[in-house]
Amino acid sequence: MSRIGILTSGGDCPGLNAVIRACVLRGSRDHGQEFVGILDGWRGLVDADFIDLDWMSVRGLAKLGGTILGTSRTSPFGERGEDGGAAHIKANLRSAGVDALIVIGGEGTLAAAQILSRHGVRIVGVPKTIDNDLSATDYSFGFHTAVEIATEAIDRLKTTGESHHRCMIAEVMGRHAGWIALHAGIATSAHAILIPEQEATLDQICAWVRTPFERGRTPLVVVAEGFVSAEMTQPHSERGLDAFNRPRLGGIGERLAPIIEERTGIETRSTTLGHIQRGGAPSGADRVLATRLGRAAVDAAQNGEWGTMVASRGTEIVRVSLEESVGRLKTVPQERYDEASFLFG
Ligand code: F6P
Repeated sequence: MSRIGILTSGGDCPGLNAVIRACVLRGSRDHGQEFVGILDGWRGLVDADFIDLDWMSVRGLAKLGGTILGTSRTSPFGERGEDGGAAHIKANLRSAGVDALIVIGGEGTLAAAQILSRHGVRIVGVPKTIDNDLSATDYSFGFHTAVEIATEAIDRLKTTGESHHRCMIAEVMGRHAGWIALHAGIATSAHAILIPEQEATLDQICAWVRTPFERGRTPLVVVAEGFVSAEMTQPHSERGLDAFNRPRLGGIGERLAPIIEERTGIETRSTTLGHIQRGGAPSGADRVLATRLGRAAVDAAQNGEWGTMVASRGTEIVRVSLEESVGRLKTVPQERYDEASFLFG
C-alpha cells in the first residue's frame, strides 16, 4: 500500500482544500492509499512536520477557502543546496514511511518539484494559482473565484463612482500576467484595462478616462499590480525588494490616481483589492476543477506516473511532464487583449 504526502506551497488559493479532499477520498476509498499532510509547504517537508490525513479529516472541505495544511514560500533546498536538500528530504520521507508526494503549487513550487523528481522523489504535481499564468494548463482553480470577487467589488466601485462623478481605479492581482484584470475588466466594461504585457502611455490612459466622462459616464480603470508605465517617474524596480527579495509590487493604482486627476481634472479614487481576491470560499466552478485535478493526481500516483502534473486542457484533465509545466509563464496574448479593446474609452 502506498503512503502519499500532500503539500500546498506558495500563495494560497481558493480550491486547495477541495484538491486535498478529492485526493484523500479517491485515494483511500478506491486505491487503498494512505495520506500524510505536510504542514506549511516545503517547510514541513524540511522539518518533518507531518499530520495524518484520513477521510474524516477532509469531510466538508470542498467549500472552505485557504488550505488546512498551511502554506509558505520556503525553498525545499535552502542552505543545503539541491543535492543536500534533496537527500535530507528523502531521508525525512523514508523515516515517515512516505513513498510519494502530491505537490500543489505554482511556478516556483513546481520547479522545485521537478528538481526533487530528478533526484528520484516520486512526485505528481497539481497546478495552483489565482493568476492563471501556468502555461501547461488552460485554467487553474482559484482564477475563476478571483475574477468573481473582483467583478463584484468593481461593480460596487462603479455605483459609488457614479454618485460622485469620479474616475474609479481598481487594482487587482497579477504580478507577471494580466488575466484577472482582463477578465474582470471585460466583465465590468472597464474603459481601460492595464496589464503587465501591454504598454500604455499616460496620454492614452487619460484619453480612455476623458471619453466616457464627456459622455456622462463614470470612467473605470482596471489595472493589474504588475503594470508598468515607462513614463512614471518611479518604476517598480526602484521601489525596493520585499522580505523574499522580490520586487515590491502593488500600489500602481494609488500612483496612477493623482496623475489621472491632475491631467484630466476628473476627481479619481483608487482601490486595491489585494488578498480579498485570494480569500474565502471557492466558486462552484473552482470546486469542480479542483476536485477533478485531485482525483486525477491520485490516479496518476496509482499508475506510477511520476514526474507529471495534472492539467486542464479544453474539457479534459490530462497529464503533462513536470518539465513542460515550468519555465514559461502563460501571459495574455496580443489577440486576447485586442478582443477587449473595443470596450475602451
Ligand atoms: O498567488 C499569486 C499572487 O496572488 C500574485 O498575484 C501576487 O503578486 C502575490 O501572489 C502576492 O503574494 P503574497 O501573498 O506573498 O503577498
